Amino acid sequence: MAKRLFSGIQPSGDIHIGNYLGAIRNWVSLIPEYECIYCVVDYHAITMFYEPAEMQELILNAAAVNIACGIDPEKCTLFVQSHVPEHTELAWILNTVTPLGDLQRMTQFKEKAKQQEASVNAGLLNYPVLMAADILLYKGEAVPVGEDQVQHLEITREIARRFNTRYGKIFPEPQERLTKAARIMGLDDPSKKMSKSVGNTIGLLEDPESIWEKVRTGVTDPARKRRSDPGNPKKCNIFHLHQYFSNQDDIKHVDKGCRSASIGCLDCKKILFERMMATLNPIREHSLELMSKPGQVWNILRRGAEHCSKIAAANMKEVKKAMGLL
Ligand code: TYM
Repeated sequence: MAKRLFSGIQPSGDIHIGNYLGAIRNWVSLIPEYECIYCVVDYHAITMFYEPAEMQELILNAAAVNIACGIDPEKCTLFVQSHVPEHTELAWILNTVTPLGDLQRMTQFKEKAKQQEASVNAGLLNYPVLMAADILLYKGEAVPVGEDQVQHLEITREIARRFNTRYGKIFPEPQERLTKAARIMGLDDPSKKMSKSVGNTIGLLEDPESIWEKVRTGVTDPARKRRSDPGNPKKCNIFHLHQYFSNQDDIKHVDKGCRSASIGCLDCKKILFERMMATLNPIREHSLELMSKPGQVWNILRRGAEHCSKIAAANMKEVKKAMGLL
């Protein structure tokens, strides 16, 4: 039987090309290899400020975009975290084997705590425990994520080990699956990761004019000051993005053209924009079509939750038995 794979995405705003290249595209390519479970993690999203009236729309939007990117509900499972209550039940249990110091040392916790200094809630601190519960509830062995989640996978393995040592070997130690695009940077400032919270994203549903404006003004090799200066593609974030949207001929063409100054940065950006839109236009159109039929998407999510509930119930029974709770 195929090994089980789990991954998740927060419904916390427009899904962007960082999510797509770092995670979702990989999720799609792993479907033939694993038994895949993909989750819209609403309980994670509520650890940051959000508008309750917008949440259902954000969940629907996240699900629709994933399906439009190629997450085929006939070939894998897509569901909403809060529809399967065992996620929080297992998270509570795992809290009791998680060292507090490990949680306080998490980079993402420190960053997010800084972003909402006035009200750092305990959910933000325990975020990685819920993430461990998401994966371990299904005994997931592979977890395709971007680089920013690697530390969360390390603590997931630590939690699994501690649980297994105390109560018997129940959980596998899940491994991250990274892609070459594990860290996509902002176009306006390539020293910052592309992220919803920084607000430097290119959204999968964003209109082409607004995307072009971001690509047009994107930072390139800082040493290339004039059109006649040769550039170094290795130091250019636009060239980096070519790797994921353009074909080999384009990549060779812009690489050579940049190094010899036979093309300018604007020429290079025009090609990137065209190739990017060839990927993004169909995703946007398909997402909008799906969002216009919300009933169909909710049905997919309901079926997904039904499937996951069965696995979750069986595994929770095993966990509780081992712990003397049954
Ligand atoms: P989230 O919603 O922040 O991001 C979803 C996925 O997108 C990846 N990603 C990136 N990859 C490359 N470059 C970027 N700039 C970039 N920005 C985001 C993330 O690494 C992630 O894979 N904690 C998770 C959600 C989660 C989860 C889980 C993941 C909850 N439970 C269980 C795996 C397994 C998160 O915040 O994702």
